[in-house]
Amino acid sequence: MNLAVLASGYGSNLQAIINAIHKGEIRANLAVVISDREDAYALQRAKDHGIEALFLNPRDYPGRDAYDRGIIEQLRLRGVDLVILAGFMRLLTPRFVAEFRGKIMNIHPSLLPAFPGLEGVKQALDYGVKVSGCTVHFVDEGLDTGPIILQEAVPVFDNDTEETLHQRIHAVEHRLYPRAIQLLIEGKLRLEGRRCFLGAT
Ligand code: GRF
Repeated sequence: MNLAVLASGYGSNLQAIINAIHKGEIRANLAVVISDREDAYALQRAKDHGIEALFLNPRDYPGRDAYDRGIIEQLRLRGVDLVILAGFMRLLTPRFVAEFRGKIMNIHPSLLPAFPGLEGVKQALDYGVKVSGCTVHFVDEGLDTGPIILQEAVPVFDNDTEETLHQRIHAVEHRLYPRAIQLLIEGKLRLEGRRCFLGAT
């Protein structure tokens, strides 16, 4: 199976995925890392590991739909079967979702459906929750609304800042995301409506 990771930023989840591939915990080929930001450290991480790093500048395209078609074209050229969003800061168009339905995953730093969208960690902290966490989910047309694959909770402490809480969540993400990816690769994710069950398909 050929994977692509789409990332806009630091890429620590990308790093966790690369590490898992090296350890044989994800049995797939990471064909390309694509970013909408030229300065994304994720691109550097890819290069450091000999993985193709591709910057696609949204300004080179007339609009969102054209940009997403540009990404789809690059994915098709490389025979990508599974698209992994890892801190990709753009909402995919319905066309993109339709093209890879059931083959796009995202990770979000809250227990969805709480605190979707931008700054999930800050939203949770500001709300005053005592428990937060992270969610791996399939991507549909909505904002962080697709069927949930895996979730794990982390405690929120009184002295937490956005940074310390995000750090705690990141540590869990780095374990959860590779696991979810490998489950899909092994055909062990079964969808019934919104519910995703773990077991043979
Ligand atoms: C993660 O917290 C993820 O949940 C969210 O964006 C962040 C990306 O972090 N979607 P990184 O770039 O993988 O370090």
